[in-house]
Amino acid sequence: MRVILMGPPGSGKGTQATSIASNLGVDAVSSGDLFRDNQRRDTELGRLARSYMERGAYVPDEVTIKMVMDWISNPAHSAGFVLDGFPRTHAQAEALDAEMKALGGVDRVIFIKVSEDELIRRLTGRQICRDCQTPYHIHFSPSKTEGKCDNCGGELYQRDDDKADVVTTRIQVYNQETEPVVDYYRQAGILREVDGEQDVGDVGKAMNAAIGG
Ligand code: AP5
Ligand code: MG
Ligand code: ZN
Repeated sequence: MRVILMGPPGSGKGTQATSIASNLGVDAVSSGDLFRDNQRRDTELGRLARSYMERGAYVPDEVTIKMVMDWISNPAHSAGFVLDGFPRTHAQAEALDAEMKALGGVDRVIFIKVSEDELIRRLTGRQICRDCQTPYHIHFSPSKTEGKCDNCGGELYQRDDDKADVVTTRIQVYNQETEPVVDYYRQAGILREVDGEQDVGDVGKAMNAAIGG
């Protein structure tokens, strides 16, 4: 099963990806997490990505496509995958289509719909686990112990790009670059839309139903 999760920044892709993937018996990957991992390891790719991410701009297609294709072509991911945050541009969608052609294409694209006001509330209150990347929210889904991850005990931190001015840019870039990719999959007939403003559990149920149906 090959599934793509699409939705604006803060729509809940990362919150849902792991459980969706484990239901399907595959792994999930977030292109943003791969870039942040490279930043932590201070690789050349990490330093390049930081210069775009800190301003809320997209990382260039060439390096993004290569990074995600390397992940997909790892034999450990041959059973399928859940992609969180890729593709976001036409060039990325075309590269993925070309790679998937021999395998029969992508099975489902799930689009998580959330209003702009709600995205801003979510992103500006978000905390992330430094070790396992689980997202929390200071009001909507706080961790049981303040500042510590429920899953692994890791330290929670605020992403640099979750500051209010960068959040606004990220939403603009999404509207400009990624909305057309959503339309592309809608026209291909494999897109399913879910209401992302329900509580976390109900969004997950709606997504599982959309993948099954
Ligand atoms: P990335 O890390 O992917 O960021 P994003 O797309 O902006 O999405 P987010 O991770 O911010 O949001 P999310 O949808 O995962 O929401 P979450 O579940 O955390 O990318 C970062 C950057 O990397 C990009 O800006 C770009 O520079 C670069 N990049 C990445 N991929 C790229 C690509 N393909 N091409 C080029 N550049 C790329 O939830 C958000 C908050 O809401 C959390 O606090 C959560 O607890 C809360 N929440 C979630 N669901 C609910 C709910 N139902 N009710 C209430 N609260 C909720
Ligand atoms: Mg995310
Ligand atoms: Zn953790």
